Amino acid sequence: MSKRRIFVTSALPYANGAIHLGHLVEYIQTDIWVRFQRMQGHEVHYCCADDTHGTAIMLRAEQAGITPEALIARVLKEHQRDFAGFHIEFDNYYTTHSEETRKLSEAFYRKLKAARLMEVRPVEQLFDPLKQMFLPDRFIKGDCPKCGAKDQYGDSCEECGATYSPTDLKNPYSVVSGAKPVRKSSDHHFFKLSDRKCREFLEKWTQENEHLQREAKNKIREWFDQGLNDWDISRDAPYFGFEIPDAPGKYFYVWLDAPIGYFGSFRNLADRKKVDYDAYTRDGAKTEMIHFIGKDILYFHALFWPAMLKFSGHRTPSHLYVHGFLTVDGEKMSKSRGTFITAGSYLEQGLDPEWLRYYYAAKLGPTMEDIDLSLDDFVARVNSDLVGKYVNIVSRCAAILTKQFGGKLSSEVFARDNTSRPYTMIAYGSENVIRESLDAREYGKAIREIMRVCDLINQRIDRDRPWDLAKDASKCDYLHDMVSDCINAFRIITYYLAPVLPKTADNVAALLSLDTPLRWADLPKAIDRISPYKHLMTRIEPRRMRALIDANKETLQPAPQSHSPQRHAHHEEHAVETVAANTITIDDFNKVDLRIARIVNAEPVEGADKLLRLTLDLGGETKTMLAGIKPAYDPEKLKGRLTVVVANIAPRKMKFGVSEGMVLAASGEGPGFYLLSPDSGAQPGMRVK
Ligand code: 2FM
Ligand code: ZN
Repeated sequence: MSKRRIFVTSALPYANGAIHLGHLVEYIQTDIWVRFQRMQGHEVHYCCADDTHGTAIMLRAEQAGITPEALIARVLKEHQRDFAGFHIEFDNYYTTHSEETRKLSEAFYRKLKAARLMEVRPVEQLFDPLKQMFLPDRFIKGDCPKCGAKDQYGDSCEECGATYSPTDLKNPYSVVSGAKPVRKSSDHHFFKLSDRKCREFLEKWTQENEHLQREAKNKIREWFDQGLNDWDISRDAPYFGFEIPDAPGKYFYVWLDAPIGYFGSFRNLADRKKVDYDAYTRDGAKTEMIHFIGKDILYFHALFWPAMLKFSGHRTPSHLYVHGFLTVDGEKMSKSRGTFITAGSYLEQGLDPEWLRYYYAAKLGPTMEDIDLSLDDFVARVNSDLVGKYVNIVSRCAAILTKQFGGKLSSEVFARDNTSRPYTMIAYGSENVIRESLDAREYGKAIREIMRVCDLINQRIDRDRPWDLAKDASKCDYLHDMVSDCINAFRIITYYLAPVLPKTADNVAALLSLDTPLRWADLPKAIDRISPYKHLMTRIEPRRMRALIDANKETLQPAPQSHSPQRHAHHEEHAVETVAANTITIDDFNKVDLRIARIVNAEPVEGADKLLRLTLDLGGETKTMLAGIKPAYDPEKLKGRLTVVVANIAPRKMKFGVSEGMVLAASGEGPGFYLLSPDSGAQPGMRVK
C-alpha cells in the first residue's frame, strides 16, 4: 500500500456566531475521514480556521462596543472549545485574519492581475449617507417591489419569493442606521471569470474528471448554461478585511481571502511543524488536496477557487466532497422551535459528543442529500445500537472473563485453529467492506455492516448464555473460548468504530491493552488479557433531549427564515440575520416617543431614598414622573433645565405614586446617573428622533 499524502480542510466557519449542529455535520464527517486515513498509515494534514472578515463582523463588533479583532479573538476561543468538545482534531485551527493569509491574498491578487484576469469598473450601489458606507444587499430593507410586503431584504422577498436588486425596493432604508440609502458609484475590482481561458479551464476541470460528485457536476452544468459572470472581489472602506495592495481604501471581499485562508492555516502549520508546504500547494503537486464543504458554497469552491488557484500558479483541488444540509425532525433548524441547537448547549447539557458522532455517521453517505436529525430516532439508535449492541458485547463477556479466568484470554486455543474463534473470523470478514465504505464516505454503509456483526455476536451470547455456562465446570473450556472469541471480535469492531468514537476507542484500548494510536495494521494482533471492565457508555434518557430543545428555544421574534434557494449563494446571509436579530427596525424605533421636556419642579419623595418627583413641561402638556436620581442631583439645581423623556410609556403606578413617563439618564458600571441635555435651541415638546 502506498502512503497517501493529503491536505484536508473543512469550510471555515464565520467568526460571528456559535457553532451549531448543522456545522457539525461537516466537521464530524471530515474528522471521521481524517482519523480513518491516519489509521491506515497515511499522512494527513487537517486544517481549518475562523472566517473573520466582512461587513457583518465589523458591524457586530461595533454593536458590542469592541474592536473586530477583539470580537474574532473571543469567537475563536469559543469555536476551538466547541470543536475540541466534539473531538474534532485539527492539525491547525487558525484565523483568516493572519499575516500568512494577508500575504497569500496579496500574492494571489498580483498573480491574477499579471494573468490579465483582474479588471476595474465602476459600480453603482446603495450607500448609507449617515454611516458613510456602501450597503451589502442584506443590509438594506424596504417594501417588496412586487407584492408590497414591508421590511423585506434587498435581494428577495420572504413573502412572495420575488428576487430583485436592492435598488428596486420601495421605501428602502439602511438596516444599519435607518437612513434612506442613496445611489453612489465607486470603482470595484473584478475577477474575470467570464474570460475565455477561465471558462475553458473550468468546463474541463469540473466536468471531465473525478474531482466532483455527479450531482455537483450537474449543478455546475446549470451554472455554465446560465453563463459565468465576473466576480466583484473588492469592497470599499469601511470594511474589516485586507486592504488591496495597490488600491488604497479598497478591501478584498471576504470570500476572496476565505479559501486562501485554507492555505494560510496550512502555511502556519507547515512553518511550525516543518511540513513541506510547497509539496501540497504548488502547481503539479503529487499530493492530494481535499475540501469538505456544504452544497451552499459549491459555487465558490468549484468555480472561483479552482480558477484562482489555476491562474496564480497553484495546484487545484483533488476533490470537493460536498454534503447536504441538516434538518431537525424533518424541518429547517429553527430558533423558535429550539432546534437551532448550538454545539455549546449540547455539551453544557452534559450530552455525550460521541452519540452525535455516531448518529451522523449512521446517516451520512457520499451524496449531497440533506440529512435529518430525528430526535426520537437519535435516542433510539444510540441506545439500541451503541449501548444495546456494541457496548453490550463487552459488558456481558468481560466480567466473566475477569471472574472465571483472571482476565486471561484463551490464547492457546486461538493459536490452534480458526474454528474455535468463529466470531473473530466473522468480524475480520467485514474488514474489506468497512474499510472501503469509510474511505468512500459511505459511513452509513459501514455502520450497518458493523451493527450486523454486533447482532450476530449478541445472538450467540443470547444462545450460549455464558452466565449459565459459568455454573457448569464441564463447560469451562468452551466458555473460555467463547467469551475470548467475543471479546476479540469486539476488539476488531472497536478499530472499525475508532474514527467515529475516538474517546470510547481509547477507553477500550486501555481495557484491552491495545497499542495506541490504533492502527488498522494492528487488527490481526491478538491480545492475551483484559483489565477489569469499566463502564463505557450510558444510555440517553429521552427527557435530556427535551431539555436540550428547551435550552435552545428563543422566545424573541425569530429572524426571518430563508425560502429562496439563491439566498444560500449570499454568504453574508447568516451574518446579517444575526445582526438583524439584534437590531430594531425604524418602525420599532418610531414607537418610542422621545421628547424634550423642561423640568419645572423637582422635589424629594417622602419616604423614598432615591426618588425625585419631577414636574415636566412637554410643550404645553405637563406630566409628573418619578426618577431614581436623587443620589446624583440636588433638586433645586434641576429646576428650569431641559432634558429628554419617553413621553408615551403607559403610566406606571409605583409605591410612591404614579409616574407618567420616563426620564432618560446615562449610567455605567459605577455609581452615578447623568441626565441628558439638548443643545441650545431645542424647545420643550420637540420630538427626538
Ligand atoms: O459559508 C460559510 O460559512 C463560509 N464562512 C465558508 C468559507 S469556506 C472557505 F472558503 F473559506
Ligand atoms: Zn413580495
